[in-house]
Amino acid sequence: MSTQHSTPNTQHAKRNVLVTGGAGYIGSHACQALKAAGYTPVVFDNLTTGHRKAVQFGPLVEGDIRDGAALKAAIEQYQPIAVMHFAALIAVGESVEKPADYYHVNTLGAWQILNAIRETSVGGHLIPFVFSSTAAVYGIPASSPISEDFPHQPINPYGQSKLMVEHMLLDYAHAYGLRSIALRYFNAAGASLDNSIGLENRNPTHLIPVALEALLGTRPELQIFGSDYPTPDGTAVRDYIHVADLATAHVAALEHLLKADNSTPAHMALNLGTGQGLSVDEITASIERVTGKVVPASKHPRRAGDPPALVANSTKAQTVLNWKPEHSDVETIVRTAYAWRQTLS
Ligand SMILES: NC(=O)c1ccc[n+]([C@@H]2O[C@H](COP(=O)([O-])OP(=O)(O)OC[C@H]3O[C@@H](n4cnc5c(N)ncnc54)[C@H](O)[C@@H]3O)[C@@H](O)[C@H]2O)c1
Repeated sequence: MSTQHSTPNTQHAKRNVLVTGGAGYIGSHACQALKAAGYTPVVFDNLTTGHRKAVQFGPLVEGDIRDGAALKAAIEQYQPIAVMHFAALIAVGESVEKPADYYHVNTLGAWQILNAIRETSVGGHLIPFVFSSTAAVYGIPASSPISEDFPHQPINPYGQSKLMVEHMLLDYAHAYGLRSIALRYFNAAGASLDNSIGLENRNPTHLIPVALEALLGTRPELQIFGSDYPTPDGTAVRDYIHVADLATAHVAALEHLLKADNSTPAHMALNLGTGQGLSVDEITASIERVTGKVVPASKHPRRAGDPPALVANSTKAQTVLNWKPEHSDVETIVRTAYAWRQTLS
């Protein structure tokens, strides 16, 4: 696991934020928002699914989060004021086939970062930590909208690997005073409003990029699983949040932690969604409306483990962070995703 540094930058150390996974989809948008808010994002990424060209807002350290020495070297060099941790393996189905990889990267990798924070701390002060968690920690909830205190019962290794990190954060808060926020995203969607970054996954599994590929003819069709759910049109309902809104929530979480005092809980988990569910059929209809093209689609039986509806109650995030989604209407999500998709070959 080699580490390469580019464009060293130590003079602005007070505004540096270490962003693991910052070359990926959501991490790169967080870097854009950090830059806009006056911070310098220092990306730490091994570029497995991330892209060098997505690192546009600060330096890149090429390294693996399982490499503790590389993490410590990056923290010592750049002296970040906080860490945002996005780096992970993210495919739910793959996590069932390869759980060892998921626990290794997602759980042990997070442990390595926390360890590096502890070992580089000055005077016992640990820099705060913002963590990419997921709605997958709720498994199949009994009802929707879902609030943070719903039971945590992940049904796959991906969700388990993330929930274990949340448990670590709670324990580190008690034992070492680590301040952290776990942000449980629902369905990230869309691309940057200036069309400079977006999802660049060669094998997308999420609805909108898959539907766009079908529409553009780079895959034969969109397969829709389940049309007999107890939802208004029978297709599954999810909560889609624009990636730019996720990004600003991260900056708000960072600033909340930076100004925290002893009355602030040392660890908390917050849902990030819109509170509005959209069905698969509603999304495909929006895509057809925005693009003027037809999404070729076929309907199939339900897939095991797919809940009928997953919608966030995100009032806690809105209150605590003084944040609200501003670009998560379906038109903006689809328009930006389509504009970005057209830039890819
Ligand atoms: N996309 C979603 O809808 C969604 C929903 C909930 C949670 N999340 C979480 O958000 C985070 C970012 O997801 P994304 O959609 O941007 O995925 P992504 O694959 O685009 O980004 C992940 C980044 O992490 C890097 N990475 C992976 N393994 C690494 C390692 N061992 N060392 C260093 N870097 C490594 C990749 O190169 C990539 O740049 C993940 O933690 C994911 O679990 C995503």
